[in-house]
Amino acid sequence: MGSLSRDDFTALWAQDDLGEVAVSAKEIADRVSELGRQITQDYAGRPPLLVCVLKGAVNFMADLMRAIELPVEIDFMAVSSYGAATKTSGVVRIVKDLDVDLLNRDVLIVEDVVDSGLTLNYLRQYLGARNPQSLEVCALLVKEGEQRVAQSLKYVGFCIPADFVVGYGLDVNERYRNLDAIYTFIGEA
Ligand code: IMP
Ligand code: MG
Repeated sequence: MGSLSRDDFTALWAQDDLGEVAVSAKEIADRVSELGRQITQDYAGRPPLLVCVLKGAVNFMADLMRAIELPVEIDFMAVSSYGAATKTSGVVRIVKDLDVDLLNRDVLIVEDVVDSGLTLNYLRQYLGARNPQSLEVCALLVKEGEQRVAQSLKYVGFCIPADFVVGYGLDVNERYRNLDAIYTFIGEA
């Protein structure tokens, strides 16, 4: 068709703040398909409850759930961590809790990025206390060498350098979530 994807050029409104493409839209799409296939196999006969961590994981969740060929259910949590725009404080506040009961459910947390790991660590303990049958994590991105808390992540999309990135759900001050690719952020936070 010869049509340009948004990867081929940077959105005009954002280009001053964006550096290199960290993960292209094509790479994301291919990896999400693979993860979907893997999850479909691993959870055959026990469809998982996908728990999306708002807001950053919303793009990933929307694509991932359509790549899983099982009758999954979905729910959403919103957490906010106090601190500066580009570093977590590790103190997590639940802004929106789940609507469904986790008792005996196979729960898969869908997260955008694991940086220090503190947010995920908190969530795991918080949700684990509700007696799910199983509790695993599917993270789109993991920052290399940054984890302050050891994590066992069952599914990981990409390991990336420790730079701050935006796009495909990831934000700085609520912006850039609607970019199709993931870029290093070089603007002012
Ligand atoms: P952690 O608690 O340090 O692992 O941070 C996790 C949360 O911080 C993620 O769920 C994101 O909301 C946010 N975060 C960490 N790194 C980035 C980034 O590079 N871009 C956008 N948000 C990020
Ligand atoms: Mg965020």
